[in-house]
Amino acid sequence: MRTQIDETLKDFLSIYEDSPTKEAVEYSLLSGGKRVRPLLLLSLLKDYKEDPALGLDVAMALELIQTYSLVHDDLPAMDDDDFRRGQPANHIVYGEATALLAGDAMLTSAFEVIATSNYSPEVKVDLISLFAQRAGLNGMILGQTLDLQFIEKPTDKLNDLLKMYDLKTGALLATALEATAILVNKQKDRESLRKIGYMCGRAFQVQDDIFDATKTKEELGKSVGSDEAMHKVTALTFMSLEEATTFVASTYGEIRQHLSKLKLDNGEVYEMIEYLMSRKS
Ligand code: IPE
Ligand code: IPE
Ligand code: MG
Ligand code: MG
Ligand code: MG
Repeated sequence: MRTQIDETLKDFLSIYEDSPTKEAVEYSLLSGGKRVRPLLLLSLLKDYKEDPALGLDVAMALELIQTYSLVHDDLPAMDDDDFRRGQPANHIVYGEATALLAGDAMLTSAFEVIATSNYSPEVKVDLISLFAQRAGLNGMILGQTLDLQFIEKPTDKLNDLLKMYDLKTGALLATALEATAILVNKQKDRESLRKIGYMCGRAFQVQDDIFDATKTKEELGKSVGSDEAMHKVTALTFMSLEEATTFVASTYGEIRQHLSKLKLDNGEVYEMIEYLMSRKS
């Protein structure tokens, strides 16, 4: 499935004229991300007994937004990290101006992919609204904004941190799950899937915090230690490593329970949750 997502992304980029910004887009987009969000979408589609090929355009849009967010997140004005997806960060290779443009281009392309897909007009509008809401100023961008605010003014409340995680990381995971409900016309499942997506965000981001403090650049393929260097509030401000690890396992346990209420044949999506729980990078 992962190869198919990569091939589809490569084909999609061929519509664009060659330019330094296109090269910068290809550099980050086609370089081994884990593709967690697309894989979550495709696994849930399978559990709804749909052909995963139906989700490929949404899968591309998800990965375009994920990659744009990482390219911008690494910029000196944000987390100032110089290594990502196993290679020097975009701005290290192409400069900050081109990295900004590459991020802008990927965000815009995500909407182009959906708008030019073969989905029905109604499905396209629903997907475009969903992506705009979850990636936008009440969604991922609000999460990233709170992340920056907490550097200046650290919070002493775990709930504030978790709200930030729901937004900066959960919103896009929720997009993957809610988009599936749109594609299979199961609007009634959307609210539950959104909640599950936000819970995945919490668990995923707490794991990310643990990794930032305990793993090497080689293991993760990205810079490490930057949370501490930037004096960021993370899960480890509030919990020991052991408690954080327990928090992750129990959150994934809750996620499984909520999924079971959807009464799907949950084989594929459970496998994906297992993978997330035991992920090493
Ligand atoms: C990194 O996401 C940013 C966070 C939301 C923690 P991933 O760990 O999914 O990064 P890639 O897409 O595999 O590079
Ligand atoms: C990233 O969170 C969240 C988004 C990019 C939206 P982090 O800043 O913790 O991600 P890493 O650790 O750089 O991958
Ligand atoms: Mg960040
Ligand atoms: Mg970062
Ligand atoms: Mg991190």
